[in-house]
Amino acid sequence: MKNKKITRKISQGVYVLTCDGGGCVVDAVSQVSAGENPLIAVAVMKRNFTNELMHESKTFALSVLSRDVSPQIIDTFGLKSMRDIDKFEEVETRTIEGSSVIGDSLGYMICEKVDTIENDTHTLFIGKLVEADVYRDDEPMTYAYYQENKDDFVKVETENGKTAWVCRICGFIYYGEELPEEFKCPICGVDKDMFEKK
Ligand SMILES: Cc1cc2nc3c(=O)[nH]c(=O)nc-3n(C[C@H](O)[C@H](O)[C@H](O)COP(=O)(O)O)c2cc1C
Repeated sequence: MKNKKITRKISQGVYVLTCDGGGCVVDAVSQVSAGENPLIAVAVMKRNFTNELMHESKTFALSVLSRDVSPQIIDTFGLKSMRDIDKFEEVETRTIEGSSVIGDSLGYMICEKVDTIENDTHTLFIGKLVEADVYRDDEPMTYAYYQENKDDFVKVETENGKTAWVCRICGFIYYGEELPEEFKCPICGVDKDMFEKK
């Protein structure tokens, strides 16, 4: 492959995916058909707890995040796991047609799950849009914008001169002088060369 970085030019947004019992931040979302009830696909890593929950859920919701979203929403839904905390206690949500959606968002899409496609690392969940609304008409967050402004969304607090390594892809923070050999990001799975020293 001559330069895989061209894949970073694929335009993606940033959303909170929610389903029965949990959810997480996702950027791998695409509308894959048109019409009154278009199909929406979302790819969820198998290591995420949300993947297990999505297999059990009949519906899922995507809340569209704005550029001025509270960093707490990214931190709670994108850098922590429902295995360890109750994300719904940390972030204000609204219940729409039985689905939780993020209050501080531009709006939501509720989908009925119609198909799943498995690969080694991710499951592609495909849903038919059944309900949607717009709360605000502000600028949506793009994945490129998130990457450019990650320092505003991911606060790195280093105490007593501790070294922190931040994943350039998802923002996971590892504290320690050096990253261990063969280290991979426990959140998004990328190699240690994708980490930036702070
Ligand atoms: C900006 C951003 C984009 C992300 N995109 C995805 C994604 O498309 N798919 C995915 O499975 N995880 C994605 N993640 C990672 C999950 O949100 C993260 O691993 C989360 O902590 C999983 O929580 P869970 O274990 O409760 O499912 C992203 C995280 C961030 C911060």
